Order: sequence, then structure tokens, then C-alpha cells
Amino acid sequence: MNDSLSSYYDHRRIERESRAGRHREVIGGLWEEMGRLQLERLVAEGLEPSMAFLDVGCGCLRAGVHLVRYLDPGDYYGIDVNDSLLDAGWEIELDRDLQARLPRENLVCNGDFDVSGFGRRFDMAIAQSLFTHLPLNHLRLCLERIAPSFAPGGRFYATFFECPADRPTAEPLVHEPGGVRTSGASDPYHYRVRDLHFAADGLPWQVQVIGDWGHPRAQRLVLFRRR
Ligand SMILES: C[S@@+](CC[C@H](N)C(=O)[O-])C[C@H]1O[C@@H](n2cnc3c(N)ncnc32)[C@H](O)[C@@H]1O
Repeated sequence: MNDSLSSYYDHRRIERESRAGRHREVIGGLWEEMGRLQLERLVAEGLEPSMAFLDVGCGCLRAGVHLVRYLDPGDYYGIDVNDSLLDAGWEIELDRDLQARLPRENLVCNGDFDVSGFGRRFDMAIAQSLFTHLPLNHLRLCLERIAPSFAPGGRFYATFFECPADRPTAEPLVHEPGGVRTSGASDPYHYRVRDLHFAADGLPWQVQVIGDWGHPRAQRLVLFRRR
């Protein structure tokens, strides 16, 4: 992947930061708040312990720590383009009990959204603050590649920064709360709702924008439901 497209494609920087013990900062800080927010929202949406769950761009398991505890052993799966973050998550953030509930093989380093190797049909998934760091064709690639690994009715929740339909995408936007400045052309990216529909066009997903879900940096939530 071209590292000018996303700040997360600079693997050497991420590895340096992770090795220096700054893995939590690298994925955006707000460790407890953003971990709990994801668990609570997913449970409110109907996540059950027996479900097979996929975390796309799982990082160092900010949500994973909570989800591994909540889900039945072996039912949490994560992919991330930075192996150093997966290592930090499994080795530092999980205690022995949680490590026993998550085989290390359930965490795979992959930047192409290829989850076929897990050999599971997922009931639910999340990509929290992933689309915010990716250009539009990577959103489409993600939706296309993961779709075959979902059962009909399976749900994929993703967060994004919203660009209002009447604003030029080329102009920067500042989102409150949080004060994050986004762009149509570089990381962090903003998208129109129409862009999300475009990314899913021709794919077996039904798109439903949920919108505000209490994210401390004003990221919106969208649900892709597998047809
Ligand atoms: C802001 S962090 C969020 C991590 C996690 N979702 C959370 O809420 O803590 C974004 C994550 O997406 C990962 N990422 C970026 N591009 C990716 C890609 N093409 N495939 C998989 N992961 C990717 C990054 O390495 C990083 O861990």
C-alpha cells in the first residue's frame, strides 16, 4: 500500500512508536472511552456472546480487550495492516486469561481486507476509525473483499467523518466535538453519505446511515447489512 494514502501505511513509524510503548497513542488515545463505547454500542445493536465477530482495522485491541472478554472463546477475529499493533494488543493489552480466549492466529496482518483465510461466516463486524483513514477505492475494496465471509443478515458497522451533501469535498472541514480537520483528498478523510452508497454499489450490502452515536470526535456510524 502507498504510504502517502494513509498515515497507517507508514509501517516503520508505527512499529517504532509501538516498540516505544506508544501503541495506544498511535491508534488515537481515548483508550477506555473508545473501547467501552464500541462494546456498549455493539451489545445494544444485538451482539451476543455466541456470535462470530470481525474487527476490521482492529489495531492494538482497544475494542478487542472488551470484546474478547464478552464473546465466547475463539469468536473474536481481527485484521490490521500493522503487525506491530497486533503484537502490542495480544502481548501487552491482553492478560493471560484473555490470551487463552483469543488464539493469536485469530489476529492477521493484512492490508487487503482478505478475511477468507479465517474460514468463518461472521455475524457482526466493526471498522472503527478505519474508513476515516482510507481513500474511497479502499472502502469499496474492503466492502467487496469481506462480503463473502458474512452470513445473509450479517452486519458490518463502520465509522466515517461526514461531509454534508452541499459542501465541496475539496474544502477542509473541522468536526466538533474533537476539532479534527478532515479533507477530501488526504488522511483523515471525509465522505458524503452518497460516497458510501457508491462504495457499496453492485455489492451485496444494504446501506443504512445511523449517524451520531456519541463518538467523542464526531465520527458518524453507518451500517452495511449483508443481503
Ligand atoms: C485509528 S486506528 C483504530 C483502531 C481500532 N479500530 C480502534 O478503534 O482502536 C486505525 C487502524 O486501522 C488500521 N488500518 C489502516 N489501514 C488498514 C488496512 N488497509 N487494512 C487493515 N487495517 C488497516 C491501522 O493500522 C490502525 O490500527
